[in-house]
Amino acid sequence: MENLMEKIVSLTKRRGFVFPSSEIYGGFANSYSYGPYGAELKKNIKDLWWKKVVQNRADMVGLDGPILLNPKLWEASGHTEGFNDAMVDCKECKKRYRADHLVEKATGKDLEGQLEEMTKVLKEEKVKCPDCGKSNWTDARNMNMMFKTQMNGFDGDVYLRPETAGAIFIEFKNIIDSMRVKVPFGIAQIGKAFRNEIVAGNFIFRLREFEQMEIEYFVDPEFKWEKMFEEWLEFQEEFAADLGAKKEDLRRYEHPKEKLSHYSKKTVDIEYKFPFGFSELFGLAHRGDFDLKSHSDASGQKLEYFDAQNNRRFTPHILEPTFGLDRSILVTLVSAYTEEKLEDGSERVVMKFPKKLAPVKCAIFPLLKNKPELVGKARELYDALKSQFMCEFDDNGNIGKRYRRQDEIGTPYCVTVDFDTLEDDTVTVRDRDTMEQQRIKIEELEGFLKDNLK
Ligand code: GAP
Repeated sequence: MENLMEKIVSLTKRRGFVFPSSEIYGGFANSYSYGPYGAELKKNIKDLWWKKVVQNRADMVGLDGPILLNPKLWEASGHTEGFNDAMVDCKECKKRYRADHLVEKATGKDLEGQLEEMTKVLKEEKVKCPDCGKSNWTDARNMNMMFKTQMNGFDGDVYLRPETAGAIFIEFKNIIDSMRVKVPFGIAQIGKAFRNEIVAGNFIFRLREFEQMEIEYFVDPEFKWEKMFEEWLEFQEEFAADLGAKKEDLRRYEHPKEKLSHYSKKTVDIEYKFPFGFSELFGLAHRGDFDLKSHSDASGQKLEYFDAQNNRRFTPHILEPTFGLDRSILVTLVSAYTEEKLEDGSERVVMKFPKKLAPVKCAIFPLLKNKPELVGKARELYDALKSQFMCEFDDNGNIGKRYRRQDEIGTPYCVTVDFDTLEDDTVTVRDRDTMEQQRIKIEELEGFLKDNLK
């Protein structure tokens, strides 16, 4: 399976999905650029999420808040004090690690948050440094994961937001005052978050700059939340399936009660079987009234809801379904990657993306490059379709090679203009997955694509 990851890293670089960033300067700290196809794939995933979460629901509204926020927010939320990971350094080779990850990998023990215990285990059980193989550790110590920066006109440290959620809580009052929302309702946001991870890695799984798609869903404290909690989990599993994840590659992990924050009633992660093992993809937490109460106390502003029907005022409780966008992209890439042996003995690599997520929906080929009448007709078709679908025109190399190129980027349909087209206005449409070809009238092509790309 590790091999699969290498193949995906290589294909996505070679074919313009994901590039290691700052490469001409020797790279930079496991950061990546989404190339032309990756950017398209990412946009399609965001659009699908927004459509399902905001557009299709009367009980949800969207928000687009800033990355730089008043640092009082992070004090109130507990991030300044407690958003820490445990780090430990190898005194021999100077490599730095997450202490809890090292301990868990070596002993299976989950000692998250227990610095002294971690130090003891690392030293007493002589846990080896994964890099140099020696066992000579510093003590485990906490490191705050927020990135600090400065701002003109502001005294003191400012932080790049470590999650998008904070920007949502502080707009609760504005949303209540400006929109006709009634509890229960939710606010959704997509955007960048920044965490100074001790070790980033596993390609785009753990990044220091990443994107989240988060929902804060506000409910009455008296509300029987258990059924809704289950429905959000099912929604998250359904969204993972939309990305192409198979049911058997998903599982739920419920955080043990003793590990939950005092305000949380329940937290469940949706884990996916990545090539490096089951790991968190999405999360769902019942956060009680912690966020609105903390921001209300710290700001002196009432963050309450007035239920006019029952003449009651209360601080809503929050259910928080959170989705990692980069991890969603990774799931889509892993699930789509397919190697197939063909009848003629050759092999093909095909990215079987869910059709609605594919970066390019349709490729248009003239059968021969040196026949202006075919090229002209194919160009005409490309020009007609490109305002509706992401299309590509390709006249380079033989048709077989063009199919393989489109298979590798997961294009669902390839359309060829040939000599018959000039006679009867039909084209050959080849399906990415079955490789079957059918003749379709040009006037029916747009409808065919619309029907089949849903
Ligand atoms: N507001 C809640 C929150 O931020 P989280 O579990 O810390 O919860 C939510 O993060 C999601 O963000 C995770 O489920 C994961 O998909 C994604 N995520 C977290 N850290 C990440 C990182 N370093 N790189 C990429 N994605 C990350």
